[in-house]
Amino acid sequence: MRELLKKFAYVGTALVLVGVAVNSCQKQATKGGISADVAKQVYVPPGEYDEFYAFLSGGYNGQIDVVGLPSGRLLQIVPVFSVEPRNGYGFDEETKAMLMTSHGFIPWDDSHHPELSQTDGVPDGRWLFINANNTTRMARLDLQTFETVEILEIPLSGGNHASTFVTPNTEYVTAATRFAVPIPQKDMPIDVKNFQGTLTFIKVNNDPNYDKNDRMEIAFQILVPGYDYDLSHCGKGPSYGWCFFTSYNTEQASTLLEINASQKDKDYIAAVNWKVAEKCIADGKYKEVPVTYYHNYYDDKTHMAYSKVHKSVKVIDPKDCPGLIYFLPTPKSPHGVDVDPTGEYIVAGGKLATVLPIHSFSKMVKAIENKQFEGEDHGIPVLKYDAINHCEVPKPCLGPLHNEFDGRGYVYTSCFISSEVIKTDLQTCKVVDRIPVYYSVGHLMIPGGDSKKPWGKYVLPMNKITKDRFLPTGPELPHAAQLIDITGEKMRMLLDFPTIGEPHYAQALPADLIVDKVWKVYPLEENKHPYATHSEEEAKVVRKGNVVHVYMTAIRSHFVPDNIEGIRVGDTVYFHVTNLEQDWDIPHGFAMYGAQTANILVMPGQTKTIRWVPKHPGVYPFYCTDFCSALHQEMQGYVRVSPRGAKVQLRWRGGGSDWKTG
Ligand code: CUA
Repeated sequence: MRELLKKFAYVGTALVLVGVAVNSCQKQATKGGISADVAKQVYVPPGEYDEFYAFLSGGYNGQIDVVGLPSGRLLQIVPVFSVEPRNGYGFDEETKAMLMTSHGFIPWDDSHHPELSQTDGVPDGRWLFINANNTTRMARLDLQTFETVEILEIPLSGGNHASTFVTPNTEYVTAATRFAVPIPQKDMPIDVKNFQGTLTFIKVNNDPNYDKNDRMEIAFQILVPGYDYDLSHCGKGPSYGWCFFTSYNTEQASTLLEINASQKDKDYIAAVNWKVAEKCIADGKYKEVPVTYYHNYYDDKTHMAYSKVHKSVKVIDPKDCPGLIYFLPTPKSPHGVDVDPTGEYIVAGGKLATVLPIHSFSKMVKAIENKQFEGEDHGIPVLKYDAINHCEVPKPCLGPLHNEFDGRGYVYTSCFISSEVIKTDLQTCKVVDRIPVYYSVGHLMIPGGDSKKPWGKYVLPMNKITKDRFLPTGPELPHAAQLIDITGEKMRMLLDFPTIGEPHYAQALPADLIVDKVWKVYPLEENKHPYATHSEEEAKVVRKGNVVHVYMTAIRSHFVPDNIEGIRVGDTVYFHVTNLEQDWDIPHGFAMYGAQTANILVMPGQTKTIRWVPKHPGVYPFYCTDFCSALHQEMQGYVRVSPRGAKVQLRWRGGGSDWKTG
């Protein structure tokens, strides 16, 4: 029997070998059935830059991944809503304030939908916005420094999922309530029918001469029925002035939503006219609702985050503001809502629907003018489906979720259940191509694909399941993105690459919109950090009661001071480390033995602070954690800790100097 099995095994191997030989002679196909010549299309030779920056949300890791396309190379992970031990974000004293909320310090969140700032409907490479789904917030990254520079808490909300989507000149960024909640929050029985939602419009200060990072403020919130508001996109061109939000659970189920929120054939897209909202605010048709929320921002000059606490927000009740909002019936528990580059077509993703509904903006406007309503819901006019619908793409695929556009009249739809991307002609509503993806695709992204001018070269589906695609890594497998060429009539699979966390949405734009603007250092002469040390001569150690401030410098390859004595158990020590380098890519790190925090990674010209509360007498080392030079390993020092109440003199030395005292 054994012999027989061996024989079969041998025959099997032989067949495989023959198969490989045949394939390599013919089309050089790979195991996945993709011809090897696609490698040329994604190959970026060593030393050369990728053509596109792509920004993928990290999902449950709360971060943003920066990836180069077409190579799929991971360039950076930018911490946003989650602490990052790599560089000390959220651990160092400067950035803790970024993660402050009305619920206290929150070290994590679930980041979903990145959106690039736009000018005239086109991504402009200034900023990237991203939402926090769990403890409702919105963040802004500066694409000169690739740092999170602003986080705004969204009050009167639960589950900020339909966020962040911008208006064509970044006048506003949207947010919305995914989970209906008591508004304002209060203790009451769980019954969604008594809860409400809000659609939030955050005003963005676009003034190029404004030199602070507190650019976002909540302009207004719109009170809406307690449905689950899921996704959004704003109008452009003719639909400029409008934003669209999908909703599900219009059944208002409180429990077992998988059944109870799938009862109705249609839910809604909420169409909001923000120009009308602006007028209602100007006319005083709103209520100032008392509620506490945080607004945190990072100052590039002091290298420090600050929190402002707001105490109220403007809320518009649609009853007081006619023309503000209409419901567009849409089958069935829709997920994405996407507006095509012309601004005319509003494509929904009916995740349980058998059709792909495409609404027409011009028909919607006519339907409003002609009062083609089928009724009202909570006082909001519901338009007649037939009056607004451009077409239903029949039998598109199973589980259509999201849409992006190539700017050539086609919409690309991700289909979760049937694991494919389909390409549909917006005019004729005919599916013209489809390609399988591996597996269970969620969002998809075309560079600029939700803007007025897509760079329609690739589509990047982001897949939830990757079993059998990569070398296994235990029960937990990575999510993945795939790169598909969409320049031809037929889509062409080019590349698989695993991602960090779970990317939901992504954005991309040509690298040349960013590359030349990227900061290489923080100018030392502009460093206004209150504990900055601009030269080794200024380095010092200052005691104030039980608090000790170490004004420390770092330069290749030493710290000043590198010896400190006179610290006592019971002290709290702050090491304020200034990196004196003014050369690109020369960070210094700092780690202190026994510090209950992460290391800090200090960029050239920057100051960062680590807190240390020594517990036991002794002599403890610290060192540079970033391999900065050939003598990096020598970049180290000691702190002597004496018992509580000891009389050991506070003194320090370093950089070749003798002991100094304060
Ligand atoms: Cu500085 Cu290693």
